[in-house]
Amino acid sequence: MNRPRVLITYFSESGHTRAAAKALAEMIDADLEFIETASLGHSLWAWLMRGFAAMRGLRPTIVKPRHDVGFYDLVVLATPVWAGHITSPMRSYVTLQRQNFKRGALLLTLGGNGAGSAFIDLESECKIAPVAHCALTDHDRKTKADHAKLERFARKIKDALACDSVEKVKMAA
Ligand SMILES: Cc1cc2nc3c(=O)[nH]c(=O)nc-3n(C[C@H](O)[C@H](O)[C@H](O)COP(=O)(O)O)c2cc1C
Repeated sequence: MNRPRVLITYFSESGHTRAAAKALAEMIDADLEFIETASLGHSLWAWLMRGFAAMRGLRPTIVKPRHDVGFYDLVVLATPVWAGHITSPMRSYVTLQRQNFKRGALLLTLGGNGAGSAFIDLESECKIAPVAHCALTDHDRKTKADHAKLERFARKIKDALACDSVEKVKMAA
């Protein structure tokens, strides 16, 4: 039987989510998709606008994704938390792609507050029940607990995919 195909789609500005997505991709042998959007700027105003856009559920224009989600058995959605919500470019991506998601898993990076509300936000946008969640805080990174958390997340994803494979074999028998 073919190995399950996994895509990790991530958005990242300062690199935390990118680093987590890349480390996870190595653990579960996944492809990577970066959500590209116009530069949001670096002024205080631009920073406030990021939070505003996240809270209001805005969906900015993003570059057409390179990977076809329909090809993958599972998509990991990885995003920073902005103002207790998912980032607006991730919201745009999910809106465009969600009808093609088969299974999903959710990965957040954040300073330390708002993981719960951001998970609720992302789950309600995806419209599928994720097989696993993982939130990596600044504290996790500083104490180097992030790697172990990512490994647990990777294991849950692999277990979910292994269950799917067993089900497929049973149905084919
Ligand atoms: C506009 C903005 C809003 C943020 N809001 C939160 C927040 O509500 N809670 C939190 O814990 N961290 C918050 N952060 C911190 C980021 O979630 C955190 O630094 C994240 O790891 C950045 O990911 P990146 O390096 O992939 O861009 C915010 C950062 C920005 C730029």
